[in-house]
Amino acid sequence: MKAFIDWMDERFPLTKVWEEHLSKYYAPKNFNFWYYFGSLALLILVNQIVTGIFLTMHYKPDAALAFASVEYIMRDVPWGWLMRYLHAIGASMFFVVVYLHMFRGLIYGSYRGPRELVWIIGCIIFVALMAEAFMGYLLPWGNMSFWGAQVIISLFGAIPVIGEGLTEWIRGDFVISDATLNRFFAFHVIMMPLILVFLVFLHIVALHQVGSNNPDGIEIKKNKDENGIPLDGIPFHPYYTVKDIVGVIVFLMIFLGIVFFAPTFFGLFLEKDNFTPANALQTPPHIVPLWYFTPFYSILRAVVWDFLPGGAKLWGVIAMGLSIVVIFLLPWLDRSPVKSIRYKGWIYKTALVLFIIAFFILAYLGFKAPADTDLFWFDNTRWAQICMFIYFGFFLLMPIYSKMDPTKPVPDRVTFSKGGH
Ligand code: HEM
Repeated sequence: MKAFIDWMDERFPLTKVWEEHLSKYYAPKNFNFWYYFGSLALLILVNQIVTGIFLTMHYKPDAALAFASVEYIMRDVPWGWLMRYLHAIGASMFFVVVYLHMFRGLIYGSYRGPRELVWIIGCIIFVALMAEAFMGYLLPWGNMSFWGAQVIISLFGAIPVIGEGLTEWIRGDFVISDATLNRFFAFHVIMMPLILVFLVFLHIVALHQVGSNNPDGIEIKKNKDENGIPLDGIPFHPYYTVKDIVGVIVFLMIFLGIVFFAPTFFGLFLEKDNFTPANALQTPPHIVPLWYFTPFYSILRAVVWDFLPGGAKLWGVIAMGLSIVVIFLLPWLDRSPVKSIRYKGWIYKTALVLFIIAFFILAYLGFKAPADTDLFWFDNTRWAQICMFIYFGFFLLMPIYSKMDPTKPVPDRVTFSKGGH
C-alpha cells in the first residue's frame, strides 16, 4: 500500500490534497448543528446526479411521450418509482438544506470578510440551483409543469424592447412546446449539473483558502501554537468526517421517511395538478410554483402598482430579481463590529426575526390567490407588500441598524454553547 501511495505521490498530489483538505485541515472545534448542512448539500447533489442518470435511462424528452414515460418509470421499471421519488423529493430536500445552510451564514456572519467570495459563489450556486429545479420541473410534462413554465418564461416578456423576442428565443417556439422540452432536458441533465459541480468545487476551494467561520465568529487562525496549528482547530478528518456521518444518518431517516411514507409530502413536494398531462387548453385553477419558489413568487405578485413606468409586471420582475441580488450584497451591508449573532444586540436579533417571519409569510402567500377580498386586513396582496418591505428593509437598512446595535465583546477563544460540541 505504501509503495503504491509513494508511486502515486510522485505523479499526482494524492497525500498533499488529502492532508491539505482533510487530515491536516484545521476546522474550528466548536462547530454545531448548523454546520451539518454543507456536507448534506453535497450528499444531495450526488443523490440528484446518480438518481438522475437512472431516470434518464427510461425518460423520453418528447412532448408526446414524456408524461407517459414518467408513469412507466413509476409503475413498470423495476425500482423506477424509487429513483423518481429520490430525485423529485431530493430536489425539495436540496432547497430545505440549502436554505438552512444560508441561514447559518446569516446568523454567524459567515458572509463577512474574509469569506465574501465563499458567500458570492454560494449565491451563484443558489441561482443555478433555482434554474436547475425550474427546468427539471418541466420534464414530467404535467399540467403544472406546462403552466408554471408558461408563467415564468412569459415574465421575460416584461423586459422593454427585447422582451417579446427573448421569450420566443427561450421557448424555441411561440408557445411552450416540444422544442422547449428538449432544450430544458439538455440544460437540466448536462449543462446545469456541470455548472453546479464546478461551482461547488470553487465554493470549497475558496472556503479552504480562508478557513471556516464558526458559531462564535472568531478567526481561529489568529491564535496559533508554536507549530502554526490553530489552538481552537481540530483536523477535519477524522473529527468532522465522523460528526458529519451522524448528520447524514439523521438526514437519511427524514428523507427516506418522506420517500417511503409521504412521497407527495401533502402535495408540497409533488403537486396534485402535475399528475395530469400538460394541456395547453386547460389552465390549472391556481398556477403555483413549488414551495421553494413561493417567497420570490409572492414578491413578483406584490407589485401591482400600474402607475409605475413600464407597468406593474416589469417592476414585479425587477423586485423579484432584486430580492435575490440583494442577498449577494450582504457582506457589504453588514457593518456590525461582530460576526456572530451570539454577540449581536437586540436590534439585529429583532430585524432577523422579522425577516424570517416575513419570508415565511411570503412563502405561504405564494400558494394563495393574490387578492380574495377588498377588506384591508384580509387582502393577501397587502400582506405580501408589507412582507416585501420587511424583506428589503432587513437588507437595505442593515448598514444603519447594524452600526447602532449594542453588541457584546467577543472572546479571544471559541466557546461551547450548552450541550454543543
Ligand atoms: C449545492 C449547494 C451547496 C453546497 C454543496 C455547499 C457546500 C458547502 C460546504 C461543504 C461547506 C463547508 C461545510 C459547512 O460550513 O457547512 C460550505 C460552507 C459555506 N457555504 Fe456552502 N454550499 C452550497 C450552497 C451555498 C449557498 C447557496 C450559500 C449562500 C448563499 C453558501 C454559503 C456558504 C458559506 C458562507 C460557507 C462558510 C460557512 C462558515 O464557514 O461558517 N453555500 N458550503
